[in-house]
Amino acid sequence: MTDFTTHTSGIIGWDVDADRIVTVTIDDKTQSTNTMTDDMAAALRSVVERLEREKDSITGVIIASGKDTFFAGGDLNLLMTAGPDDIEAISAGLDHYKETFRRLETLGRPVVAAINGTALGGGFEVALAAHRRIALDARGSLLGLPEVTFGVLPGAGGVTRVVRMLGVVDAMLNVVGQGQRMKPRKALQVGVIDEVVSTREEMFDAARAWIKDNPDATQPWDRKGFRIPGGAPSSPALAAHLPAFPATLRRQLKGSPMKAPISVLATAVEGASVDIDTAFTIETRYCARLICGQISANMIKALFFDLGKVNKGTARPADIPVRKATKVAVLGAGMMGAAIAYVAAKAGVDVVLRDVTIEGAQRGKDYSRRILDAKVAKGRLDTAGRDRALDRILATDNISDVKGADLVVEAVFEDVELKKKVLAEVEGYVSDDALLASNTSALPIAEMAGAVTRPSDVIGLHFFSPVDKMPLVEIVVGEQTSDESLARALDFAKQIRKTPIVVQDTYGFYANRVIAKFVDEALSLVAEGMHPASAEQAALQAGFPAGALTLFDEINMKTIAKIRAGFIADAGARGVDFVPSASYPLVDRMLEEFDRPGRLEGRGFYDYDGPGGQRLGLWPRLAELYTRSDVEIPFDDAKERMLVAAALEAFACYDEGAIGSVAEANVGSIMGIGYPAWTGGALQYINQYPGGLEGFVARADELRARYGDRFVVSDALRARAADGSELV
Ligand code: NAI
Repeated sequence: MTDFTTHTSGIIGWDVDADRIVTVTIDDKTQSTNTMTDDMAAALRSVVERLEREKDSITGVIIASGKDTFFAGGDLNLLMTAGPDDIEAISAGLDHYKETFRRLETLGRPVVAAINGTALGGGFEVALAAHRRIALDARGSLLGLPEVTFGVLPGAGGVTRVVRMLGVVDAMLNVVGQGQRMKPRKALQVGVIDEVVSTREEMFDAARAWIKDNPDATQPWDRKGFRIPGGAPSSPALAAHLPAFPATLRRQLKGSPMKAPISVLATAVEGASVDIDTAFTIETRYCARLICGQISANMIKALFFDLGKVNKGTARPADIPVRKATKVAVLGAGMMGAAIAYVAAKAGVDVVLRDVTIEGAQRGKDYSRRILDAKVAKGRLDTAGRDRALDRILATDNISDVKGADLVVEAVFEDVELKKKVLAEVEGYVSDDALLASNTSALPIAEMAGAVTRPSDVIGLHFFSPVDKMPLVEIVVGEQTSDESLARALDFAKQIRKTPIVVQDTYGFYANRVIAKFVDEALSLVAEGMHPASAEQAALQAGFPAGALTLFDEINMKTIAKIRAGFIADAGARGVDFVPSASYPLVDRMLEEFDRPGRLEGRGFYDYDGPGGQRLGLWPRLAELYTRSDVEIPFDDAKERMLVAAALEAFACYDEGAIGSVAEANVGSIMGIGYPAWTGGALQYINQYPGGLEGFVARADELRARYGDRFVVSDALRARAADGSELV
């Protein structure tokens, strides 16, 4: 019988078999997964102490889990709430785990981790303290150290051990530098586990067999003459490689305030130059500083808690049975339609891809072929998998092929009359209760609903380009859209593995309203006299993935001018004040006077080597015409103007109810439009601003005084700041 003694706080079971192998089963009954709570820390320590006490009577140790997953990792609640005053406590906590794991790996008995399912972060660090890691090839199981993606680093020995297992270069590239979550077979290939098995029985048999064969197991780094694979940083082989890392990191981070990637690198390199105990000390120092900083709190909130809420479907109306789409009719096989067809087919849904000509439809299907072929070439997919996905797409010009479809996504040109026409037409062919969705980026869903006989089945499914890479979809609820339609749209988003946010049918929905403020503000800097290269740099250093001028060229200024007209008309219709941006006359001049609409034409704010071609450099005339040496815009103002303008708009959307929750607003801004992840999203940026909401409001007031009414703070936000409540 399993012994859950008081020694282990009831969290860790203890079984001894006939061969005197102890299986310790981690199973925190108070939680659905095992995480690094204070109780867990104490339980792990008392297990190790018991192993030490009873060492003479045991032959080896198997670390197992009583859950479906092995061990989920750090206690993110704790990590999120730690502040600058907690450095000592956090460091002590990390050192406690380190000591426990170190005592386990130097026990003098073989230790095997039997990894039955997902083991991430701290959970994988438990396994790294074992002498051998055997993983079950369980469905959905993911292994790795993803801390860096939450703005922290693996601080319970993870960086130090992986560097000693794989060497600095492979550890950085494949494990700790980017925080890859790996399937067991991939983890085996990378070298962080030793064996993959297909059944639980095999896993435990293999663990026992290994223990019997390796009674004197030690970690490689505790053996005499151990050298880090690839050498220490001082060795000539590694010294040649290392300088590339900070340079690449700097290129990737583009000056954004994200600190974790640099700290991981520093921990790896500095730790590889010293003995393991000193390496642990270094790791604790870097890690504690990250945990107690604001950026990790922001990222954990947005990318774990907010994303968790959104993906759990808190916006889904209850009591409506889940329905999966079986056949989707995609109308329009252009850039968006082709890619929507691909994501649906990849998720196992049959697709009818319809365009006005068969050639157009075929071209749309070729998009899927190209992506799938590339996957086959990279060894990520076999040819049978490719063919199965392709066979699901029927390219056609014949409307009657959509017969039997239970979901329609129209992606024809952005023209409301055309959209009404195609929806009305397709309604006559598809299933009687098919959901009728539009991928419009701005047009009113309610107006389209007026064109069909079942207006409550019309909804917006606004994807982002490129659809196969962008994880977000905006679900637009029109005036007449039913709860059932909303539930079905959310079910479809889940089916094709997209993260949905639910937005109201107002112009620009949510994401485009927010991104418009960012790009307009960036271009205003140029219009006011800042050098265009500096304005681009300010956007990158604020943490946006691309400069705004680059985006203007990509989106095309003709489209941008149309969208702007839509915003102005919408504000007029709603009777709200519309504050024009200094960017507008500049965009108009680019279109009318210079005929430079963007990359598609091969000329915009940048020069290109041809229509749709490679960017060459900024168009020199722009700086000649606008840059003024007498204008001094502080660089911090430049960066914050973009962040603040977009955050104010996100708040307006939230306050008006255009977006239903803070979680959706944060997740939507990061995943849809590249609002910097370090901020935790466009509303979290307001919470986390130094001084909290009041600090943010004071800063916005200052920007308004200096740069104009675009930074006006609404009464609602001012009231929130006054009562001190965070946006949660
Ligand atoms: P596109 O111009 O690449 O494709 C439109 C396609 O619709 C063309 O292939 C055209 O032949 C086809 N089409 C026109 N009339 C049709 C009809 N009666 N039946 C079937 N097909 C017809 O346009 P794109 O960029 O794919 O945009 C499509 C929709 O997606 C638009 O509403 C756009 O606003 C929206 N959207 C576009 C995004 C983008 O980044 N391009 C992002 C999000 C939404």
